[in-house]
This record gives sequence, C-alpha cells and structure tokens, in this order.
Amino acid sequence: MTRPDPNSNLRQAFGAFMTGVTVVTTRTGGGLPIGFTANSFTSVSLDPPLLLVCLSLNMHSLPAFLECEHFAVSILSEQQQDISNRFASYMGDRFAGTRWQADSFGMPLIEAATAWFSCSIHQRMEAGDHLILIGQVENFATNEVPGLGYSNQGYFSLGLERSAAEPPPSVRSYRAGAIIEVNGTVLMQETAQGLQPPFVEVRTHVGVLAAIDTHLQQNGLDAAFGPVYSIVDNPQTGDYQVFFLATTQQQHPYPQGRFVPVDALMQEPFASPNIRTMMQRYVLERQTGVFGLYLGDGQAGDVHPLGEGSKD
Ligand SMILES: Cc1cc2nc3c(=O)[nH]c(=O)nc-3n(C[C@H](O)[C@H](O)[C@H](O)COP(=O)(O)O)c2cc1C
Repeated sequence: MTRPDPNSNLRQAFGAFMTGVTVVTTRTGGGLPIGFTANSFTSVSLDPPLLLVCLSLNMHSLPAFLECEHFAVSILSEQQQDISNRFASYMGDRFAGTRWQADSFGMPLIEAATAWFSCSIHQRMEAGDHLILIGQVENFATNEVPGLGYSNQGYFSLGLERSAAEPPPSVRSYRAGAIIEVNGTVLMQETAQGLQPPFVEVRTHVGVLAAIDTHLQQNGLDAAFGPVYSIVDNPQTGDYQVFFLATTQQQHPYPQGRFVPVDALMQEPFASPNIRTMMQRYVLERQTGVFGLYLGDGQAGDVHPLGEGSKD
C-alpha cells in the first residue's frame, strides 16, 4: 500500500474515476454571480433530496460558498468543454460570454446544460483540505442532451464517441415546420414525446416553405410567414429540419394543436432537446424582438442575426 501523496500519485489515482463535469454557482454577498468547475458532484439522498460537492479550501470563491444560503449545480453537456475550462481557470468574469439564467433564488444556471439543480444549504462540513457542501435540492430539470465526461484529466463524450462509430444513414428525413404566434401564444402540437411546433415531412429540402404553407392550409390555418428561424442539418442522423417564423390572425383549432402562452412555454415538455433549445431561444429573443437564424447540426452551430421585427 502506497502512502497517500496528496500532490501527485493520489491525485492521479483519484483521477482514474470517471465522472461527469458540473459548474457550481452562487452569488457573493454583494450579489455578483460566481462559480467554478467541479467533478466532485455526488447524488446523496432521494428523501430528502440531497447532493454534495467538495470545494478546495484554497479556492478564491470559498468565502461566498461559506456564507451563501443557496447554490446551484449545472451538469455540463458534451458541447460545453469550453465552459468547463473557463470555470476552472479563467480569472475574469466567467459569466461574460457564457449563456446563463437565474433560478428562482437568483442562482446562475448554465444554459443548454444536461441537468440543473437549485439547492439550499443543508450542511457544510470541513474534511481535510476540502469543504463538503451538501445541498437540499429545491428544484431541478433535465435536458436529455448527453453529458460531458472526465477521466485522467481529460474530457470524453460517450454520445460523440458512439455516433462517430456509427455509419451515416443512407436515408435522410426532411421536415419543414413553423413557429406560429398569435396574441402572445404559440401553436404547439402534442406528440407522444412532448410538444413541438407544427411540421410536415417533405421529400427534399427544396420547396420547404410551400410544403409547410400548404400543410397548414390543409388543416385550416392561414399563416403569414416571416424569415427562416432554424436549419438543423445533421448528416450523422440523417435529420434535416427547417423552421420558419410565422404569425396567424386567430387561434384556429388545429389537429393535436394547442396555443400555449409564450410566457408559460418553457414549463412544457418538448418532443426533443433540439426543439426545446429552439423554443427557449425563441422565448428569449422575442423579449428583445431581435431574432437570429440557427445554422447547425443540432449539436453544434451558430446563430446569425436576422434583424429586428417578426414580433407581433
Ligand atoms: C474537470 C474539473 C473538475 C474540477 N473539480 C473540482 C472540484 O470538485 N472541487 C474543487 O474544489 N475544484 C475543482 N476543480 C478546480 C476548480 O474548478 C478551479 O480550481 C477553479 O479555478 C476554482 O475557482 P476559484 O478559485 O475562482 O474559486 C476542477 C477543475 C476541473 C477542470
């Protein structure tokens, strides 16, 4: 048995344990958001719901975590390696350039993470050179996107590794859809997996606007179309989805359709993580009236400005 060497060998041996990666956040006494990357996250108890993270007694943000009443944990997704690095090393404002939202206690939650936990302090315990912070889970949510892995000081992603091993599908699926707004509500269709804006399967990516327009009219809905809002083109899965912004005059009945108030939209279950991300962006951008066009494969992509307008 080797004598524990906290500086190298033991650290290396501990590092052989594969974990996910989280960002743990709170606010300073002055109200500034702060956070750090942590892989010491552990679920502790279901009843009461408890989790823990271990904080080095040397970290700069320790005083805030010693005083706070609430904190939050965001489990990072496989696309968020840059956020992990930022919250582990950057010494400026880690939240500038990071998309986040406050939970009901004002604690920062990292957007597009795999899961979020809003916690109140249950217990603090000093153990050696770390503080064990036990949180009572007051709220949580999940996002169905694969998590980021960490082992032996390197990142990995089971999702990306699995999809790289699979051959690309020879048959592609094309969908055209529309986010249709009327009087502060958006038309959503119920599916077995959750809500999604109305769409139609098409045979190619050519003529998608005419296809969704005709489809809506066949279902009795007359829509005025605005710009393209999102194009997801994923050769790995074969999915190609294009969504337009649109408005209509009245809440016309629609098959399996429901007009959901925009303010209540994000409390609904969505048919897929991509649809959730798109609708979340819509809700946020609608507040400013400045909309963007997403171009990507659903995992990675960019949002390009569309300019003002589109808001009724
Ligand atoms: C993947 C990863 C996991 C980490 N896990 C922890 C952890 O569980 N606890 C900890 O105290 N530091 C952990 N760190 C280091 C902190 O994120 C890092 O020291 C950070 O800069 C602390 O922030 P602060 O000093 O600004 O408070 C981790 C770093 C990485 C890259």
